[in-house]
Amino acid sequence: MADIEQKVVKGLTGLRDWVDNRFPLTKSWNEHLAKYYAPKNFNFWYFFGSLALLVLVIQILTGIWLTMNFNPSAEGAFASVEYIMRDVSWGWFIRYMHSTGASAFFVVIFLHMFRTLLYGSYKKPRELLWLSGMAIYLVIMGEAFFGYLLPWGQMSYWGAQVIISLFGALPVIGPDLAEWIRGDFVVSGVTLNRFFSLHVIAFPLLILGLVGFHILALHEVGSNNPDGVEIKKNKNAEGIPLDGIPFHPYYTVKDIFGVAVFLFFFFAVVFFAPEMGGYFLEHANFTPADPFTTPTHIAPVWYFTPFYAILRAIPDKLGGVIAMGLAVNIFLLLPWLDRSPVKSIRYRGMNYRIALTAFVISFFVLGWLGMQGVTPLYTWMARFFSVIYFSFFLLMPFYTAMDNDKAVPDRVTD
Ligand code: HEM
Repeated sequence: MADIEQKVVKGLTGLRDWVDNRFPLTKSWNEHLAKYYAPKNFNFWYFFGSLALLVLVIQILTGIWLTMNFNPSAEGAFASVEYIMRDVSWGWFIRYMHSTGASAFFVVIFLHMFRTLLYGSYKKPRELLWLSGMAIYLVIMGEAFFGYLLPWGQMSYWGAQVIISLFGALPVIGPDLAEWIRGDFVVSGVTLNRFFSLHVIAFPLLILGLVGFHILALHEVGSNNPDGVEIKKNKNAEGIPLDGIPFHPYYTVKDIFGVAVFLFFFFAVVFFAPEMGGYFLEHANFTPADPFTTPTHIAPVWYFTPFYAILRAIPDKLGGVIAMGLAVNIFLLLPWLDRSPVKSIRYRGMNYRIALTAFVISFFVLGWLGMQGVTPLYTWMARFFSVIYFSFFLLMPFYTAMDNDKAVPDRVTD
């Protein structure tokens, strides 16, 4: 028995060495896992990077299987989704995993980004890491927008109509640009075709490339942590950070626990509340697209509503479009707006704590307002909270420079 075992081990080691002489297999494993030293004090907030990877894989796999039965034409799209739901074996399961996955992606990414605001992970030397994250975020927004047109329901159709017509508000090039995006004078089967192509191939490729860049950038500079202390400053004689532990097995095991808890909630939604009361799958989308009947109330899916509320807060269409674009993109400037020498909120003064709290409240209220119909009161509320939203960024150079920051310890604390 021992003899056979020895032979198997010898054979496998030989195979590994054969590959290693031709491809950096063990080298990459060590560089990115077994000898990648991550701070030992990661907490709850550090689950969401690996969870974002998990959701990305879920979306790609379920997407491949959906594509096998989906018909990307104005005549057939709606019926093919019904066919997937009713006739294809396990089709309902794959479709609900994909639709729930879309919302789960944004939940995970918002929490992942919020962690960055808590611990100042966008600050030097992680600016490129942050910018790559922002690029992923923008592309994922596009991916979700294209995907939403595909089931060809009423909200798919009118949502796309509203958003594409916003491009029409741009001076000079606007109307031609909107027509170029649609490929037609109104949203039509031509638009559906191109959105399908972008959703299924172009944007997933972009996302995968950007995620690769993101991980490489992370592993170049090393992870930040809840204390905002650079662990590379304190190394032992072998050059290993004193406050670092190998990513594998310590954090692979921690992340597997996060994955189990996440999947518990994810499948609870998939099995028991896939529509999530109309938040994940909107009611109006169970009616086929009808270019001649506008729904009384058009609202985007929940993850776009904070920006939609900002758009509607401004009376002028072009002004609204600019404000909405700024609201999404202003995060790009964070590394340069923040003047505090301190990264983690643990050692920041009251200014930043109050500003971040106000920002989070404004984000939630705007998200809620974006789902409501328009009333004068709601419009004024949207204006008020838009001002708070933008103040977080525009006043940041001042309140962070004047903040009463505390002394940061030399080593991580827990
Ligand atoms: C598909 C989407 C994404 C994936 C798969 C992904 C993956 C990851 C992973 C695995 C980590 C390391 C583990 C962790 O820190 O949680 C990480 C860190 C980080 N990510 Fe992402 N990410 C994504 C999107 C984003 C976005 C949208 C942003 C910001 C706009 C962002 C900003 C960051 C930053 C700043 C870090 C370093 C955090 C620190 O060290 O404290 N990521 N990401």
